[in-house]
Amino acid sequence: MRKLIIAGNWKMHKTVAEAVSFVQELKQKDLGNGVEVVVCPTFTALAPVAEALKGSNIALGAQNMHWEAQGAFTGEIAPAMLQELGVKYVILGHSERRQYFGETDQNVNQKVKAALEVGLVPIVCVGETLEQREAGSTEQIVTQQTTGALAGLRPEQVAGLVIAYEPIWAIGTGQTASDEDAQQVNQIIRQVIDGQFGGAAAEAVRIQYGGSVKPGNARGLMAQPDIDGGLVGGASLKVEDFAGIIKNCL
Ligand code: G3P
Repeated sequence: MRKLIIAGNWKMHKTVAEAVSFVQELKQKDLGNGVEVVVCPTFTALAPVAEALKGSNIALGAQNMHWEAQGAFTGEIAPAMLQELGVKYVILGHSERRQYFGETDQNVNQKVKAALEVGLVPIVCVGETLEQREAGSTEQIVTQQTTGALAGLRPEQVAGLVIAYEPIWAIGTGQTASDEDAQQVNQIIRQVIDGQFGGAAAEAVRIQYGGSVKPGNARGLMAQPDIDGGLVGGASLKVEDFAGIIKNCL
């Protein structure tokens, strides 16, 4: 039985003060124990948010990292630097990283391996553009991205990570994939994992959906057999909306 995981990707939003006040408020909410909850602030807010989350069940995630352990990489953050702060999850290969910062499947693969090495749990993002969907290439794209990101991993490593299917046309557009479309692609991703890493890994790996998840559409999406949670952007910025999504999952 896979536990649902709802992660808030705050992207480049919230100052330290705003981030801390958000989690203080979120902690007051009765979120139950049925869903694993993660918040992913900017790098500058990670340490204060880690402090503010103490004593709660809410986990901390980062939005990116470099794959090298250390070195002359101005402006970058190493995996162990996140781990040291109490970060548990790290979003890797988000489409915005791929689109604006030129990240390739190979980079994502290097990052996934580096994250696992220090005990961070990757949330690996995959997803097609609108053009690719309209051209009928969704399956090919998510297969290629999933295969590329997970190349060289052992089945037990794959079993423990999280994949987020985020169709790019649904991100920040208010245009959510239908429950059926999202389920279909998540199922394809699970089949790809089954084929490459075996049934036990495919059964255990959690596959989120991301793209305009809101309190109003969370229930239908999360009820799908291959959707094990959500990676939430815009609606994770307000406590009411984020808590609403978590509550509506079950
Ligand atoms: O990583 C989450 C994100 O890309 C989805 O954003 O604003 O459509 O929920 P949003």
